[in-house]
Amino acid sequence: MLELSVNGVLRQVDAPNDEPLVWVLRDDLGLPGTRYGCGAGHCGSCTVLMDGVAVRSCQLPASAAVGREVTTIEAAATEDGALQHVREAFLEHQVAQCGWCMTGWQLTLTSLLEANPNLTDEALDAGLQGNLCRCGTYVRIRRAARDAAERYRATLAGDAPTVEMGP
Ligand code: FES
Ligand code: FES
Repeated sequence: MLELSVNGVLRQVDAPNDEPLVWVLRDDLGLPGTRYGCGAGHCGSCTVLMDGVAVRSCQLPASAAVGREVTTIEAAATEDGALQHVREAFLEHQVAQCGWCMTGWQLTLTSLLEANPNLTDEALDAGLQGNLCRCGTYVRIRRAARDAAERYRATLAGDAPTVEMGP
């Protein structure tokens, strides 16, 4: 029995210690936002955050997550940090084609921005280099990443756009 903290909730899982984390998240915990692509550590589709750092969940045994905080894309519904800005930017720029790779990109970008909100555009490009999109949406991904970084910086600076309230 493994006890994992996922998206702020302690969950108990009856899975072998060496079960890849991606399958525990998807099959045992019902979190299908973590995607399985290459299964070999090359594409980044299975990326989740472990204590805020992007990791490839197809390459990690679930036991490696014991005592750590795992964040999956499903946390975007409740968090108001970088992940929320990344989600919004990807949606507004209509980045996805088939959509399979998207959650991996978004969590990778989130980890980059949480570590350093002031990354240059070039540093953002470099940080995202390890993820792949078979549909080739790279131009839109780059646009959304830059927009998300700007939004996140504005929020941290207290410059978030205000919402006009009606009378
Ligand atoms: S599915 Fe894990 S890196 Fe491709
Ligand atoms: S949108 Fe299809 S693989 Fe990236």
